[in-house]
Amino acid sequence: MIGWMAMGDNVILVGFMGAGKSSVGRLLARRLGRCFVETDDMITAREGRSIPEIFAAQGEAHFRALEEETVRLLALKSGDVIATGGGLPCRPGRPEALRALGTVVWLRGDFDAVYERARRVGERPMLAGRDRDEVEALYRAREAYYREADLTIDTTGISPDQVVAKLLLALRDRAILSPPGPPSTLSPLGRGPGEGP
Ligand code: S3P
Repeated sequence: MIGWMAMGDNVILVGFMGAGKSSVGRLLARRLGRCFVETDDMITAREGRSIPEIFAAQGEAHFRALEEETVRLLALKSGDVIATGGGLPCRPGRPEALRALGTVVWLRGDFDAVYERARRVGERPMLAGRDRDEVEALYRAREAYYREADLTIDTTGISPDQVVAKLLLALRDRAILSPPGPPSTLSPLGRGPGEGP
């Protein structure tokens, strides 16, 4: 805990495509009065093109290099809710780098539910040209990285609102947030009640 307090007090959402990181992150940020940041948006803003365009023009390896740079830029963030791209935590050393920035939360969902959602919503180059079994193999290979999160929230069968409620309870259990009460009693993320600045 000391480590992330020194570096940042963000909440960082990780999980596979379709896990609900964007919807949950946006709602959570609103509930906490925090800024919401998406690593994919940081990349598209800097590059001036969409993720599918980056994959098409420069390939996956280039996109992964942009993610690397984005992780370095995240060190400037503090007190934010950050949603990461599904592949961002899945490199050696990455889970540790993310944990140094705040509390990492894995939004874990049943593979079929997550896959269906990922196929329905948005344009995802990592799904293009891969059949269901290939995508499941990618999911299984990534689980080891997601599992390195500080907290895991099972999202199976529940709405983004319910995921946020579970997540707030889990953060409070870890004394990352103060107990429920009027908004003014929310302590800054990463500091328990009564702890120093
Ligand atoms: C990717 C997931 C995407 C995006 C890119 C690559 C991946 O983000 O970063 O298309 O490798 O799983 P979402 O998880 O928000 O879909």
